[in-house]
Amino acid sequence: MRDGAIAPAGGASETTVEVALAGRSYAIVIGEGLIASAGRRIAAALPRARCAVVSDANVARLHLAPLKASLEQDGIFLGSAVVAPGETSKSFPVLEKLCETLLELGVERGDCVIAFGGGVVGDLAGFAASILRRGVRVVQMPTTLLAQVDSAIGGKTGIDTKQGKNLIGTFHQPSLVLADTAVLSTLSPREFRAGYAEVAKYGLLGDAPFFAWLEVNWADVFSGKDGKRRHAVETSARAKAKIVEADEREESGTRALLNLGHTFGHALEAFAGYSDRLLHGEAIAIGMRLAFTYSVEQGLCPAEDAARIDAHFRAVGLPTRVADIPGDAPSAGELLRLMAQDKKVMGGRLALVLARGVGAAFVESDVDMGRLTEFLKMECAGR
Ligand code: GLY
Repeated sequence: MRDGAIAPAGGASETTVEVALAGRSYAIVIGEGLIASAGRRIAAALPRARCAVVSDANVARLHLAPLKASLEQDGIFLGSAVVAPGETSKSFPVLEKLCETLLELGVERGDCVIAFGGGVVGDLAGFAASILRRGVRVVQMPTTLLAQVDSAIGGKTGIDTKQGKNLIGTFHQPSLVLADTAVLSTLSPREFRAGYAEVAKYGLLGDAPFFAWLEVNWADVFSGKDGKRRHAVETSARAKAKIVEADEREESGTRALLNLGHTFGHALEAFAGYSDRLLHGEAIAIGMRLAFTYSVEQGLCPAEDAARIDAHFRAVGLPTRVADIPGDAPSAGELLRLMAQDKKVMGGRLALVLARGVGAAFVESDVDMGRLTEFLKMECAGR
């Protein structure tokens, strides 16, 4: 992986992080105001490609006009498709309609789809691109913190079914990622905070100094002061790039570390109906606290490390307990049933990402179900 800061002619600096994959390398460009220059950048990276933009109604209302103007300036705008905001758009019916719209817009093999939005749009549009005409290129333009630091990088695409999240999908690496950090200022505080859980995840899974930096600097990351927000996005993108380079298709276990907190978190999200009751990042924050607390109880991790995580997430306003979810709490049995739907079940055995401390996560591929059940009973009872 190569990376470095460059100062473009127009002003503020930007950073490019490269994801080095044999035959499929691409750049992640991080900086303020990238939407205005997207046309020029995409035309340079994908010569002769025309672009169809996929977005959701919220992002389209706020940001589609300047992106369209930029693409039109370079003569590469084909049209746009706008889906409803929210996880329910990651479905077969929406995918079908989207693929038909993209074909009607005239997307050909040499063209590209721009996924312009958060994680839902990135996953859905990336999946559509991967199957349209047996695969067209995708440019990811993430507009949420969560998507800029995680879901837009690494090529995972997919939709949900009633059996669970992301159970249908492909690996389809983007040809370019443009992360415009200026758009993060248009996120609600709650959505920014939920995305922050994925930033903290990189510290917790493999970079203890980064977690310690976040403990000190999180307020400036939230306010955008002194470039600290961009430092957090860059550090996260570099960490993600390194992991994807090491294990692109989640085969060796390295990429699975990114699932820290996710097996618990996905079950909590499913329990809450993928609704505003519990955002993805909020579920992951609870999931990471559960993973560390379970690790402590198995004698794997110092108790003070789990306490640090709890304290930090509480300080930033993230939930850390099952009881923090508004409304009725799930039973341990319900959570276990939902966890069993997770993709991390292999041969009937549940794998969990656990930790030996902050920055030292590992995959436990044969979790003791009896101990896990006892642990979840305590957590669901609200201890
Ligand atoms: N978001 C987890 C991964 O990309 O593997």
